[in-house]
Amino acid sequence: MGVTVKDPYDLLVIGSGAAGLSVALGLLALKPEARVAVLSKNELSEGSTRYAQGGIAAVVDATDSTEAHIADTLVAGAGICVEPAVRAVVEGAPEAIRWLIANGVVFDQEGEDLHLTREGGHSHRRIVHSADATGKAVQTSLEARIRESSADLFEFHNAVDLIREKLPLGRQGRCIGAYALDRRDGRVHRFPARAVVLATGGASRVYLYSSNPDGSTGDGIAMAWRSGCRVANMEFSQFHPTCLYHPRAKSFLVTEAVRGEGGRLLRPDGTRFMDDYDSRGELAPRDIVARAIDDVMKRLGCDCVYLDISHKPAEFVTHHFPTVHAEALKFGIDMTKEPLPVVPAAHYTCGGVLTDLAGRTDVENLYAIGEVAFTGLHGANRMASNSLLECLVIGAAAARDIGAKLGQVPAAPELAPWDETGVTDSDEEVVVAHNWDELRRFMWDYVGIVRSTKRLERARHRVKLLLGEINDYYGSFRVTNDLLELRNLSMVADLIIRSALARRESRGLHYTIDFPTLDTVAPPQNTILVPKNFSVRRAAQS
Ligand code: FAD
Ligand code: SIN
Repeated sequence: MGVTVKDPYDLLVIGSGAAGLSVALGLLALKPEARVAVLSKNELSEGSTRYAQGGIAAVVDATDSTEAHIADTLVAGAGICVEPAVRAVVEGAPEAIRWLIANGVVFDQEGEDLHLTREGGHSHRRIVHSADATGKAVQTSLEARIRESSADLFEFHNAVDLIREKLPLGRQGRCIGAYALDRRDGRVHRFPARAVVLATGGASRVYLYSSNPDGSTGDGIAMAWRSGCRVANMEFSQFHPTCLYHPRAKSFLVTEAVRGEGGRLLRPDGTRFMDDYDSRGELAPRDIVARAIDDVMKRLGCDCVYLDISHKPAEFVTHHFPTVHAEALKFGIDMTKEPLPVVPAAHYTCGGVLTDLAGRTDVENLYAIGEVAFTGLHGANRMASNSLLECLVIGAAAARDIGAKLGQVPAAPELAPWDETGVTDSDEEVVVAHNWDELRRFMWDYVGIVRSTKRLERARHRVKLLLGEINDYYGSFRVTNDLLELRNLSMVADLIIRSALARRESRGLHYTIDFPTLDTVAPPQNTILVPKNFSVRRAAQS
């Protein structure tokens, strides 16, 4: 649908996954009269949420406890989780599950109770799930709710940049909206709003191999950084240990729940190896499992390792893992009878835009929720199934905060039109395609699972050149979806590399051969990067 500048929204949500939809629906439940717009760069359904498999961590069983979930999250986070964030999210989990059920999500049951599966790092069975397609169940239900709501939905609209109010003396004030490219007609539109939420997901497509959909290009992190927000912990890129390895399988994830239900990791000769790396074996946190697989592959020079659950009855496997089973069968692999070939792939961005526990960023009236954000929940390594949970709990808190302030925030003023003076249509799309490929390849080779200072320096040099080239290109040609994504990805790559170089130890997901151990002398810290245009007027977290 089209938009007119004369129509300022109360809330502009950029992103339509679990985070974006929970804040939009949350606000409409509190303030049915609120004018809400939701932008999505593809169809509404296309984001990581839809592909989530394992489930949502929540203490809903009497033998489990909130304290145990908190303790497991802190252990996985390797000493740098922000404890109040962990507590708030874990305590909010049962309510988040009730909210999803009330909104139509159907989870697997065991008699009267929810069936709970298990994943790495969790000391109890506490993963609420819909077989191995939990994200699809969540996305489908929330999408149905938003489509029947009063919200205006703008699919195929790629947000380009945030807009801040201009104040005297060249200062910048609150966030008052965003520019977005309508991918269907190539025009950039203005979206004025009282409050803006970034719910754009993560940046794992910065790596050559990723479990994420194509749109996970870190747009929200880059937009927030450009508009003056701090970002934190970008060095902690999570690699999921087990993606299906097949020339035609585009990094299809094999859920950790396969290991939770007894799946064993094997070398090509059929021997197990996880016990050589960690006493928790296959259920060690993912950083340890991914590094162990990387090590086995490098030592043996093999292309993949194997994940075997064929010792379980076939009905058990197909009942719990219908999605993985069906996907593997497409490539002629029957997991009820034989092991699955697997490799690690970039999966989750633990760092992001610094926020408080209501999703508030450093810029007034700008929020960041979900994978785009850093609340401090995940520390140096996210524990499985804590991500959807964070989207829901912080999304609900942000909705309450926005709702409470709505009457006090003046409507957004008229926004300046998008300036296209001096730009032409590009006749060299090959430059964008080449740079995309180069960036993702050197990030995989130089900034991957095992790092070194020399390789990080090399990557930093490459990304600097790319950023210069892309900025020239951006200033000269009309924007396209690919160009916008490349611009954001290279900015995020720079933030990842800078953060990785700043951490002179190995912790959680960040492992470097030059500092292979934990720094036990200096107090553990998060890596906070401060943009040039940062103003201390309103800080999300100190
Ligand atoms: P997303 O769901 O990624 O949504 C991002 C939205 O932003 C999309 O609508 C996208 O179109 C939009 N967008 C992005 N950029 C722009 C832009 N510039 N303009 C407009 N719109 C934009 N987590 C768990 O907790 N449990 C699991 O079992 C689990 N399994 C996973 C399995 C897979 C294969 C993957 C990839 C991830 C999994 N995760 C899991 C992680 C979890 O799914 C994500 O972290 C979570 O869904 C992120 O939700 P989100 O709403 O923040 O972002
Ligand atoms: C999985 O199902 O293994 C993914 C879970 C997650 O990323 O939290």
